[in-house]
Amino acid sequence: MELCFNFKLPKFLGGSLNSVSGKCLLLLVIALILRAVLLPTLSGVGGIGWNNFAYVHHRALSLPTSSGFEIRREKFLEVPQIVWGLNNQKIAFARACLTARMLNRTLLMPSLSASLFYKEVDLLQPISFDKVFQFEKFNTLCGGLGRYSDLLNQTQVLEMQKGSGRKWTVERDLDQIRDYGRDPFDQHEVIRIVGKNPFLWHDHWPVKDYAKIFECLVLVDEFAKEADRVISKIRGVKREGTDKVESLEDRISSGGSSNQPLPYVAVHMRIEIDWMIHCKKLEQRLNTTQICSSKKEIMERVGNIVGLKTPAVVYLAVADKLLNDSSILQGWNEGFLPFEKKKLGVDGIYSKYPYLIQSAIDYEVCLRADVFVGNSFSTFSSLIALERTQKMIRMGHNSMCGTNLRWPSYAYNIAAESNGPMKWATNMSDSSLKAVSYGTDHISCSPYTSSDA
Ligand SMILES: *[C@@H]1O[C@H](CO)[C@@H](O)[C@H](O)[C@H]1NC(C)=O
Ligand SMILES: *[C@@H]1O[C@H](CO)[C@@H](O)[C@H](O)[C@H]1NC(C)=O
Ligand SMILES: *[C@@H]1O[C@H](CO)[C@@H](O)[C@H](O)[C@H]1NC(C)=O
Ligand SMILES: *[C@@H]1O[C@H](CO)[C@@H](O)[C@H](O)[C@H]1NC(C)=O
Ligand SMILES: *[C@@H]1O[C@H](CO)[C@@H](O)[C@H](O)[C@H]1NC(C)=O
Repeated sequence: MELCFNFKLPKFLGGSLNSVSGKCLLLLVIALILRAVLLPTLSGVGGIGWNNFAYVHHRALSLPTSSGFEIRREKFLEVPQIVWGLNNQKIAFARACLTARMLNRTLLMPSLSASLFYKEVDLLQPISFDKVFQFEKFNTLCGGLGRYSDLLNQTQVLEMQKGSGRKWTVERDLDQIRDYGRDPFDQHEVIRIVGKNPFLWHDHWPVKDYAKIFECLVLVDEFAKEADRVISKIRGVKREGTDKVESLEDRISSGGSSNQPLPYVAVHMRIEIDWMIHCKKLEQRLNTTQICSSKKEIMERVGNIVGLKTPAVVYLAVADKLLNDSSILQGWNEGFLPFEKKKLGVDGIYSKYPYLIQSAIDYEVCLRADVFVGNSFSTFSSLIALERTQKMIRMGHNSMCGTNLRWPSYAYNIAAESNGPMKWATNMSDSSLKAVSYGTDHISCSPYTSSDA
């Protein structure tokens, strides 16, 4: 489940507006309403923003990676509420942080959105950033985030209207930010950006800057513990008896160590009907056949991962309430033990929470899997691949191509040797986040040269 997102992808490579649709886990009703009601209203959102992929390489703008640069604590930036799917929200948040840093201003903690709705204000369910991610931790690791209570004089607010439309180029956007970094604008205590949500702003930063901010986003304990519970259920799947989930008590009574946990493969399966409609359109527009994968193709490719030791547990991250299709549990190769939330007995954990939190829990489960397999045109999958690439880099790998590395990720929508899924590591040297935000079929496993490290 990409507890994903539904939004209008503005013009991309010159095509007509199309929706990048995600489906949100467990939210059948929302999905139906989105299709029936919301999508038409979204056409107004974009048409802007992503016309221009010819990015100037603003390397000079990258953040210093060492410590020792200071952000002013008495000047603030306020941004519009952050909306859409979890990963769109993470990207939007990071972009807001990077904009604030460029203005040398503290970012006023923005609201995230617990639900997918965003045109219906009363359904938007704003949720404070610090209800989801640890505020202090973020500031310790990354810095630059402030609270409204830090404000001295709320009357000194200057509004900055983000431009839009075809003529609002990357360069104009950058000029605007630079202008607002100078007097007289800079004298205002607060600059409030109005207009489009930050996901749709132009991008001026390299992938590495975003990656650093994603690393500073740590879930609050309550949700981190829920993710631990799900993972411990997965780790408790017994070797024999493919359907059994061993409880903690079972493990203790059986002496614990008799069975090492099986490796688990998390598969972010995008096969919901909305996604299929969307991805077919995208395939046509991009003249490729490497975006949509059927259930059968996903099972086959996951079954062909070179060097994967079986038996292995397969955790299916799917919008199962939406899909309502137990057939995803059938047809796996021998040695693959497929589980979705219900079979694992964790649907109760998820159903307590709004979609944003469900998505955040599933994100953790995928992030920490021994092997992750996703779709390279999904933002959810792409951010997981990025964070896993970061982990591997921190473990000292310069090439992600080997077969015995920890934390490998794969894209099932692109075939590799023996009809397995393509090894996937984010290109950390990329000069913009475009490939991560909007998907790509140019993926590879050696993203990093040692000179970058
Ligand atoms: C921000 O402003 C402070 C005070 O003027 C300055 O010391 C600091 O170097 C600036 N930081 C950046 C990143 O420009
Ligand atoms: C707040 O700003 C306004 C306008 O600049 C000014 O007139 C007022 O005295 C300020 N109030 C405080 C408490 O600083
Ligand atoms: C689409 O791709 C195919 C095969 O890669 C190529 O032969 C064809 O010319 C392409 N069509 C367009 C319109 O680019
Ligand atoms: C899903 O299937 C189950 C039984 O297979 C049925 O009871 C339930 O109503 C279905 N849910 C939806 C949302 O279609
Ligand atoms: C990664 O991105 C950089 C900068 O855009 C590019 O020069 C390089 O070829 C890319 N590497 C791979 C493996 O695609």
